[in-house]
Amino acid sequence: MSTAIKDSLLAQVAEVLPSSGHKVTVVGIGQVGMASAFSILAQNVSKEVCLIDVCSDKLQGELMDLQHGSNFLKNPQITASTDFAASANSRLCIVTAGVRQKEGESRLSLVQRNTDILKNIIPKLVEYSPDTILLMVSNPVDIMTYVAWKLSGLPKNRVIGSGTNLDSSRFRFLMSQRLGVAPTSCHGWIIGEHGDSSVPVWSGVNIAGVRLRELNPTLGTGEDPEKWNELHKQVVDSAYEVIKLKGYTSWAIGLSTASLASAILRNTSSVAAVSTSVLGEHCIDKDVFLSLPCILNANGVTSVVKQILTDTEVEQLQKSANIMAEVQAGLKF
Ligand SMILES: NC(=O)c1ccc[n+]([C@@H]2O[C@H](COP(=O)([O-])OP(=O)(O)OC[C@H]3O[C@@H](n4cnc5c(N)ncnc54)[C@H](O)[C@@H]3O)[C@@H](O)[C@H]2O)c1
Repeated sequence: MSTAIKDSLLAQVAEVLPSSGHKVTVVGIGQVGMASAFSILAQNVSKEVCLIDVCSDKLQGELMDLQHGSNFLKNPQITASTDFAASANSRLCIVTAGVRQKEGESRLSLVQRNTDILKNIIPKLVEYSPDTILLMVSNPVDIMTYVAWKLSGLPKNRVIGSGTNLDSSRFRFLMSQRLGVAPTSCHGWIIGEHGDSSVPVWSGVNIAGVRLRELNPTLGTGEDPEKWNELHKQVVDSAYEVIKLKGYTSWAIGLSTASLASAILRNTSSVAAVSTSVLGEHCIDKDVFLSLPCILNANGVTSVVKQILTDTEVEQLQKSANIMAEVQAGLKF
């Protein structure tokens, strides 16, 4: 292509740097991958996004569609390829590739199929970006985070699962609907498995430091006349319900992923419920990944918040850990 106009217009004084240092690769450009990429770009969490998938036509289509919106973004550099070489030097790799639940199917039933897919993905990501942080989203996310940690050889702090960040957001939304208070001011944590055995920390649910359990000691139990425990049931049923209605979930998980990416890339040390190694936490004796509130920053998970849990909450968490360990024991990888 002739550069005559460019040469007449511009007097180059230095090379453009090849990378912002904030490159994000999204592997798997289905509903979840694209919602994540879009949220990251729209919120300017990163302006350097690489899309990887096995489907080249879809990659090209998604790439063009996003690029055509560049004028409304912050001049992003978006690339797309079936070749993992394009992901080189990523600060963060978000893995959303794999099969998703069908109507009524549990996340755990996806485990071996998605493990087999990760075998093709994780070693290549680490080969091209040895210093990267891996953010796992594919389900069952706690097991996939464990598998990615094993396959990658990376330290535990740099292999993170999106975990119950989404479940906690769903919970806070439902709380906000009951109380007429913004979700950001409704404080409540869902920990443990991102899935059927997740644990609501009723003992800590509060608004402005006022613990709701002090106002209603039966909160979250079967004896509660206001049936607050239904909120947790709704959280657990959320994905099943949305999948039944629209076939998949996307926007909330995309926003959740972008929020975690922001904490990592902007080095914020904010607290989020993400899937991390829990061996030794709350007397868990299994080498599994589950969500606990974690400090997230440019070095990944640098601390786990030692929540003060009730005996029931600890028991529920240990039950989650036992379920994960049982599933992991049957995995072939
Ligand atoms: N962690 C969470 O909170 C959460 C929430 C929603 C969905 N999910 C999970 O995210 C995953 C993706 O869901 P979805 O709705 O986007 O599915 P989807 O079917 O829309 O997209 C999956 C994509 O993965 C790609 N893919 C498959 N094998 C690949 C490989 N080897 N390399 C690269 N790409 C590959 C497919 O081509 C497809 O584009 C599922 O496992 C789903 O259960 C997790």
